Amino acid sequence: MAVDMRVGQKSKDNFDRASLVFPDGTSRVTIERDPTPLYIDRGIGSYLFDVDGRRFVDLNCNFTTLIHGHAFAPVVEALTRQIQRGSCFANPTESEIELAELLCGRIPAIERVRFVNTGTEAVLFAIKAARAFTGRSKIAKLEGAYHGAYDWVEVSQAATPDNWGDPMEPKSTAFYRGMPASVLDEVVVLRFNDVEGLRRVMSLHAADLAAIIVDPMPSRGGLIAPKPEFIAAVQEAARANGILVISDEVLNLRQSFHGASARYGLVPDLVTMGKIIGGGLPIGAVGGREDVMKVFDGSAGRPLLPQGGTFSANPLSMTAGLAAMRHLDHVAFAHLETLGDFVRDGIGRAISIWDAPLCVTGAASLFRLHPRAQAPNDYRDIYPTAAGATLMKQLTRFFADNGIILPYGASAALSTPMTRADGQFIVDAFAGFLDRHQNLLDAIEASKRSS
Ligand SMILES: Cc1ncc(COP(=O)(O)O)c(C=O)c1O
Repeated sequence: MAVDMRVGQKSKDNFDRASLVFPDGTSRVTIERDPTPLYIDRGIGSYLFDVDGRRFVDLNCNFTTLIHGHAFAPVVEALTRQIQRGSCFANPTESEIELAELLCGRIPAIERVRFVNTGTEAVLFAIKAARAFTGRSKIAKLEGAYHGAYDWVEVSQAATPDNWGDPMEPKSTAFYRGMPASVLDEVVVLRFNDVEGLRRVMSLHAADLAAIIVDPMPSRGGLIAPKPEFIAAVQEAARANGILVISDEVLNLRQSFHGASARYGLVPDLVTMGKIIGGGLPIGAVGGREDVMKVFDGSAGRPLLPQGGTFSANPLSMTAGLAAMRHLDHVAFAHLETLGDFVRDGIGRAISIWDAPLCVTGAASLFRLHPRAQAPNDYRDIYPTAAGATLMKQLTRFFADNGIILPYGASAALSTPMTRADGQFIVDAFAGFLDRHQNLLDAIEASKRSS
């Protein structure tokens, strides 16, 4: 059998072994495979090296986590120092205060913070905190938005044209077989950027809602810019009805020095974080208004909302996060912003030159490509057709063949070690793809005409 040039023999052998111990050969549903995953030997700066010795520019950055790329020297040094002093204790350490001070100092909405181990856990505790604070149980969320693996935020995460319902009245759809109907009853689904829909839904459910959870630019929802009037409507509806706004910035905190809510004019009551604040180690955090965060206060006995966690605020995640965040200064953000504009503009220019039915969305260090000519407005617009899915699969494959890891169906992330030359390399690869895949681009046009 011919050897597939995209996946080397060692990766294939690893996958064969892994298939004997994992349900589908992997330990995460999000692992890409074409046809098997690439097994990684090491990462350095903006590059990944697979076990077969090939080098790739990494636009995945472990799902946008590694804002300084791989093996960032200050993180390696901080971790080496810390591991020699112990990895975790049932007592607090100074490093957790320092990271908390940094976050409270930078993110305007954060007066108090609590650390956990993942973004999922941060979202889970933010929702519980909103419930404990308001005494209400329902939440509102955006269709197609990803907030991790807590049941209530999984509702309508993967809604499809068959089940998502009327655009004026999106249905709450189950994410997995057997999801309790009571969970669906507790979640109200909104469409991103739909001001009228938001107002309509709010008028029906306002009195029962503890929180509206919004990712200001949902990645899985399309990485689409929020309309200022939508942000304003979320804020108004929440304030008028005693509902808390949770800004889920687990992914989008990387949009500016002050985070994503500050960038888009949202003033949340709670903010969830993860990914970049751990410097490459597992982390999550929930922060926000002092009076709301009081639900975690156990100084006078059992708090309204107890939150613990064996590894919460462990000193390895704290020191790695601190090293990464301290180096994420205004200069670093300016570099990422400029590079992001350079890549998005270059891709946009190539699309115009080839008159290709594609578009690029995103901001700051993030971008996402869509198989449609018109800029999408919400999750329903980015739901792929069969021809669109084929095109995107081929694009990811072409990038891999040309030494770039481009996430499929998710956001691509730039990192601080990337240079303008890396940016040009990405843009050139994209132009090369358009040049060689006219047939696929024609198929998109044809599928649009026949739909
Ligand atoms: C917006 C958002 N919220 C929550 C999560 C969950 O974070 P974790 O994977 O650390 O549990 C993610 C992960 O991608 C995310 O993008």
